[in-house]
Amino acid sequence: MASYRVAKIMEDLYVLRLDDVQTKFFEGIWEIPEGITYNSYLLTLPGKTILFDGWKKDYSDDFIEAIKSIVDIDDIDIVVLHHMEPDHTGSVPVLLSKMRRQPTIYVHPMARSMLASFYGLKSSKIMPVKDKDVLDLGDEKITFIHTPWLHWPETMISYLEKHRTLITCDVFGSYSVPKGIFDDELGEKDIQEYLYYARKYMVTVIGYYRNHIVPALNKIGTLGIKPSLIAPGHGLIWRKNLDRIIEAYKDFAEGRYDSSKITMIYTSMYGFVEKAMGKIKDYLEDNGYKVIVHKYTDKDRPSISEILVDADTSKALVIGISNYEASLHPHMDHVLNILAKKIKSLKPVLLVTVYGWGDAAKTLAKKKLENTTLNPVEYISLKAGTDPEIEIIKDFLEKIKE
Ligand SMILES: Cc1cc2nc3c(=O)[nH]c(=O)nc-3n(C[C@H](O)[C@H](O)[C@H](O)COP(=O)(O)O)c2cc1C
Ligand SMILES: [Fe+2]
Ligand SMILES: [Fe+2]
Repeated sequence: MASYRVAKIMEDLYVLRLDDVQTKFFEGIWEIPEGITYNSYLLTLPGKTILFDGWKKDYSDDFIEAIKSIVDIDDIDIVVLHHMEPDHTGSVPVLLSKMRRQPTIYVHPMARSMLASFYGLKSSKIMPVKDKDVLDLGDEKITFIHTPWLHWPETMISYLEKHRTLITCDVFGSYSVPKGIFDDELGEKDIQEYLYYARKYMVTVIGYYRNHIVPALNKIGTLGIKPSLIAPGHGLIWRKNLDRIIEAYKDFAEGRYDSSKITMIYTSMYGFVEKAMGKIKDYLEDNGYKVIVHKYTDKDRPSISEILVDADTSKALVIGISNYEASLHPHMDHVLNILAKKIKSLKPVLLVTVYGWGDAAKTLAKKKLENTTLNPVEYISLKAGTDPEIEIIKDFLEKIKE
């Protein structure tokens, strides 16, 4: 039985939050032992009930039960779907199938064909909305703002004028299942931890599209919107320190990093790469750097999500690769593909390849990093068992100095 919460945010606005601790790999890839929440919102204006987004399909029964704890499902007049990804829409067709009269569904124009293909929904009551369209409900006006690529091309957010509330779906979202519903229910330590999970969410889910964050924030700014509440589709609702999450998203968009941090990632089958990496790590630490290590060995299998956060928040990377059947070790091939996809600002790299009889990985790794943001400013090619040249590490540190 899944656990969910229903809470009143304001007089006629509710959050319905599903706490998902069952998903091990979000999007089938990102490790999330901290869990994730899906937040849906219900606005109960006199004579008009509006539902914003849903939950993942697995939780459809709970979703309907949660709605019923506030209103009759047949009281829902309008459903707004901000984003078609099934973590927010999967439960909606199940809800619709249980309703006696169909609500009007407001979506981005691109979402219409997706509703048809994903769920077979082809109602004449599906209403595409243009950027900045306003739905005037008398008592409340809802402005729909298109936010393309945050996270898909059809993503939008809503601004509730009277409630001064932005309902933002993936934008300003985060992983984890926070103890409280609102930011002011968490102490500073918990907020810090939460912001780590927010960065993890941003890098893994929005990383590839991060250039779209600043234009979206600027667009919100030019509309003269001054929200007093940010209500995302994942994680905390912000009502006290809205700037914390806005700044966290800006930092991420700009690729802000800790200038004393270096992330070291390597594969090591029998310990030769590990030995070389140990020497490099000692040297970097002796020079005042904090070194975070993620390694693939016969005993360790790191979290790719954590590799991404550490790489994104580091000044530089050290990447150690075992030659494997005239190529890169397959794990490193995978890691480099993901890093190149999600990291959007230039990261200097010390690239180390270790071989038994011939260094094919060196050429292949260099080639792989061409035209990516991973910039191998120094290379070390080592025959297994030999030590890395300190001169090259020194040059690397010289090159990454500000
Ligand atoms: C399965 C396997 C495949 C290998 N393939 C190559 C290769 O194609 N070329 C090469 O020069 N060395 C190859 N080696 C040797 C390793 O690349 C070399 O020993 C290196 O130091 C590995 O370091 P590690 O044990 O820390 O991973 C291979 C070793 C193993 C175990
Ligand atoms: Fe999404
Ligand atoms: Fe989402």
